[in-house]
Amino acid sequence: MENTITGEKIKLIDLEAQHQVIQEEVWAAMRDVIENSAFILGRHVKEFEDGFAGFCNARFATGVASGTDALILVLRALGIGPGDEVVTVPNTAFPTAEAITLSGARVVFADISPETLNIDPGAAEKKITKKTRAIMPVHLYGQPVEMEELKELCQSYNLLLIEDAAQAHGAEYKGQRVGTLGDAACFSFYPAKNLGAYGDGGAVVTNDERIADKVRMLRNHGRHEKYCHEIEGYNSRLDALQAAILSVKLKYLDGWNEKRRQHAQYYDKLLSSVKNVITTKVLDKAKPVYHLYVIRIRDRDLLRKKLKEENIDTGIHYPIPLHLQPALAYLGQGKGSFPMAEEAASTVLSLPLYPEMTKEQIETVVAAVKQHVK
Ligand SMILES: Cc1ncc(COP(=O)(O)O)c(C=O)c1O
Repeated sequence: MENTITGEKIKLIDLEAQHQVIQEEVWAAMRDVIENSAFILGRHVKEFEDGFAGFCNARFATGVASGTDALILVLRALGIGPGDEVVTVPNTAFPTAEAITLSGARVVFADISPETLNIDPGAAEKKITKKTRAIMPVHLYGQPVEMEELKELCQSYNLLLIEDAAQAHGAEYKGQRVGTLGDAACFSFYPAKNLGAYGDGGAVVTNDERIADKVRMLRNHGRHEKYCHEIEGYNSRLDALQAAILSVKLKYLDGWNEKRRQHAQYYDKLLSSVKNVITTKVLDKAKPVYHLYVIRIRDRDLLRKKLKEENIDTGIHYPIPLHLQPALAYLGQGKGSFPMAEEAASTVLSLPLYPEMTKEQIETVVAAVKQHVK
């Protein structure tokens, strides 16, 4: 079935449209890796790491196999493990919590602010115990977290601050890019991210040389030198083909993020008059990068179904808050434990957003929303 307004299908994201623009450069970059048999670490990975550190205005970026591994490796590099607790939010991708558990520490959830859907510093403070070692905020949907309050909290309780910046490449808080707002930050290059590889990839960004060095060892079997393993680590190197592709895409990232912001502002404007639709609040001091454009609406599932009938794709990020995931049932936090996160899970709806979208496509989506929201 086609949408009644223009008849075209509108995807949630369109990676093909992006590939069309950059394909010649991507093929050339891949050819360079293959023709030089430079598959493991080496020049392409180093070039990307330097470029990405520069993009974040950070001293170090270390490429790893995925965003999940970036989180696990940074926790291990910081010496966090069994007996420790790490505070994060329940409304995030599963890997945020999974990484904490895999480091050996225990996940502790804190509820979110109903306005920004990011961590509520007051709620986080209430979760601090003698075992707490770190707070791990998530810049969800590319919206920077209120970092100032969290930083003060971490300073007064002597905690580490680790940014989960998997969805926020290039986002800014008080003029500073995410990635250097805490002790270390983790990025994902999953294909759908603002900076996406053609497969998996991730990076740890930090200004702290010791953290960067430890992550560098951990990602490569705990060694600096071939055959001398100082600690037990992982095989979690950023693939050189992915690094070469990411270097091509990095040149475009600021422009793509700007397009995302323009599209989001246009959505905001068109949706401002639609009753019962709540758009996400942006902090005054923040410059978001809109990994996703998320609205909240009470009859979310019905609207989603109607939009699907109109050939408009949408997403739900995320339908089940992590404390209610079967894998985390052992934490013993049932329904009602985190009311704001639970409310978000039942009302959030991600509308189509990607840099190559046209104004007409946004108008079509909004017209369809208006048709079905009373
Ligand atoms: C907030 C958040 N954290 C962590 C991850 C994990 O990244 P990856 O899929 O690259 O392992 C993702 C992506 O799925 C994410 O969105």
